[in-house]
Amino acid sequence: MSEPEPSFDEYATDYASALEQGISVSGENKEYFARGRIAVLKKRLDAMGRSPRVVMDYGCGTGSATPYFFETLHPERVIGVDISSKSLQVARTAFPQRSASFHLFEDYKPCAEVDLAFCNGVFHHIPLKERAGAIDYVRRSLKPGGLFAFCENNPWNLGTHFVMSRIPFDRDAIKISIPEARRLLIAGGFEVLDVKSLFYFPRSLRFLRPLESALASLPLGTQYQILSRAPS
Ligand SMILES: C[S@@+](CC[C@H](N)C(=O)[O-])C[C@H]1O[C@@H](n2cnc3c(N)ncnc32)[C@H](O)[C@@H]1O
Repeated sequence: MSEPEPSFDEYATDYASALEQGISVSGENKEYFARGRIAVLKKRLDAMGRSPRVVMDYGCGTGSATPYFFETLHPERVIGVDISSKSLQVARTAFPQRSASFHLFEDYKPCAEVDLAFCNGVFHHIPLKERAGAIDYVRRSLKPGGLFAFCENNPWNLGTHFVMSRIPFDRDAIKISIPEARRLLIAGGFEVLDVKSLFYFPRSLRFLRPLESALASLPLGTQYQILSRAPS
């Protein structure tokens, strides 16, 4: 029998240090990855001429991506939703401004107001049977034609397995490959626009990072980001 999923309430206060325990093998900190994911997304949005006013962070946890949304995408509002009330409390304390709000899933009613939904490292924690429902929640939150940037750890990269094995809350997660994620999105009515692999090289090999944009189309980076569009 598999282990039960961890409750993120347990990690609300030391989420950052538990995460650093794993990703420190890359020589980088969590800010490097958070900023990098949103920088890649920003380039894609610019190419499409899209500047989202309302952003949803699905599975926002303690809200660690919030400053990067404001810094890079300049939205009017960020809406974070999560299952862990203690993590949401940490997020509210860290980001008290009115332009950011944090809610339990059941307290936020999807109402087609979101221009861009984003998630990172969330779906591998969602039980298989509940993943389609999670996609549907995102779709109902988005405006018609709204975008969904789906970021996950790539099980086709060996480094991903090593890093996740070092993070207590990620150890037993059910990883999701790029083809599985694409199928899930398409089954939920999304059109897949673009898939990018991210973060190939650790800090010690950073002189090779200029190659990462050329490698983005191979399904082998430690993470990937799928940009998809809700039906209009
Ligand atoms: C690894 S953390 C990622 C947090 C944040 N997205 C980030 O990048 O730092 C995973 C998040 O997924 C949430 N989560 C866990 N189980 C979930 C479920 N069944 N449905 C939705 N979210 C879940 C957790 O509460 C946690 O905040």
